[in-house]
Amino acid sequence: MNNLTVIDHPLIKAKITQMRDVNTTTKMFGELVDEISGLMCYEITRDLEVEEIEIETPITKTKGYRIKGSDLAIIPILRAGLGMVKGIHQLIPTAKIGHIGLYRDHDTLQPVEYLCKLPNDLEHRNVILVDPMLATGGSAVKAIEILKERGAKSIRLASLVGCPEGVAAVHNTYPDVPIYLAAMDEKLNEKGYIVPGLGDAGDRLFGTK
Ligand code: URA
Repeated sequence: MNNLTVIDHPLIKAKITQMRDVNTTTKMFGELVDEISGLMCYEITRDLEVEEIEIETPITKTKGYRIKGSDLAIIPILRAGLGMVKGIHQLIPTAKIGHIGLYRDHDTLQPVEYLCKLPNDLEHRNVILVDPMLATGGSAVKAIEILKERGAKSIRLASLVGCPEGVAAVHNTYPDVPIYLAAMDEKLNEKGYIVPGLGDAGDRLFGTK
């Protein structure tokens, strides 16, 4: 599929398997989300532009690189998206962090914004939108709509587990948004859960039911 990267790496494969396991504790689950998000960051940021800079080592002057404009924003979709922030932010500490909160309207079943706090210079930033599960794609589509309305020009979506339905929903509306997944699962079930999936990512992260 166009504009879709399913990251193929032994460490990610093994860690996703541990996450899926119903016996994995809340503590372990959170640590795995951190680790996988950090590993994914390598691929998500592969195309970022760098600029040459001069520095001085203890030995001599030399040239090196820095990320152009140090211009990233990490935007989690609440609440499960919060789990992916730390692993990415540790690698890109200059990134600003925004938040988008969405709930599903009981009647329309559509996602509705209840919170939106974003960096005010969004148009100059490469946005990494994070949500661990790309299921129906409804939340991701709504979050991308909000980000574009607020001026974002470069958005990439990172999820741990996706399915064909979610990828299609995002790409039917926003084919320009690259999607990065750690695993592409089989399908959605009738309750909207990804199969085989890992259950409710928010519940597993925060120990709720
Ligand atoms: N959200 C989750 O947390 N898990 C799913 O399987 C689907 C949506």
